[in-house]
Amino acid sequence: MGARGVILLGPPGAGKGTQAERISKDYGLVHISTGDMLRDAVARGTSLGRQAKRFMDAGELAPDEVVAGIVAERLAESAPGQGFLLDGFPRSLSQAEALDEALADSGRSVDLALSIQVPEEELVRRLTGRRLCADCARPYHVEFGPPQVADRCDQCGGRLYQRSDDTEETVRNRLAVYRDQTEPLNGYYRSRGVLAGIDGTGRPDEVYARIRRSLDRVQGSEPGQPA
Ligand code: AP5
Ligand code: MG
Ligand code: ZN
Repeated sequence: MGARGVILLGPPGAGKGTQAERISKDYGLVHISTGDMLRDAVARGTSLGRQAKRFMDAGELAPDEVVAGIVAERLAESAPGQGFLLDGFPRSLSQAEALDEALADSGRSVDLALSIQVPEEELVRRLTGRRLCADCARPYHVEFGPPQVADRCDQCGGRLYQRSDDTEETVRNRLAVYRDQTEPLNGYYRSRGVLAGIDGTGRPDEVYARIRRSLDRVQGSEPGQPA
């Protein structure tokens, strides 16, 4: 398997974090979630976190200068041959262009953009019932995916918490910001022939089976791989 660059597109609550965990493990890709990195910076009270916090609480995008730098840094840390899975970045056309430039510097590119689609009312249900592990950021849901032991992460035993931006009001604004600034990226990646639309409804393992089919198609078409 050669180096691959995969990005996850899709609205808040589409299941990017849920699916990223499986994809990165099975395909050996480094999972880079800008939302998780920003929440970590907020929790640690770093200057980056202090700059990002008010935007996150309002459901608005943090400024490009704040976000693009942390992604470039994380990509630069990984070996040039290492595949990556970006979750929550890029989220605007200017971020997509910045990403292309950063990748070109190390001879990498976006090979596949997985765009996960879920109807809006389902997104609101998923987000308002979400819980996250404070230690490893794994997502749970009070109804659709509860942990085995109440309020504890199945994976690492960490405590579960609710994100402060998962209230119905902030969720509605995040969805509006998505439609306005992030959805146009579907066209950007479609015109490059790397977009794969994924039906994000149904159980997480059903969604994952659809994602695998797209990923395996890209892998099979790489030079040196049997078709
Ligand atoms: P970020 O953390 O990226 O949030 P988001 O895009 O709003 O997406 P979510 O994490 O809410 O949803 P998800 O798709 O990961 O869903 P999940 O798998 O958890 O960004 C947060 C904020 O940070 C932004 O608002 C912005 O301020 C800032 N930010 C981040 N990146 C930025 C950038 N590039 N530029 C500027 N600012 C940036 O699933 C959701 C729930 O549904 C869970 O409870 C899960 O258990 C459940 N679920 C998942 N799949 C299923 C299923 N198939 N059936 C039923 N339930 C399911
Ligand atoms: Mg997420
Ligand atoms: Zn955990």
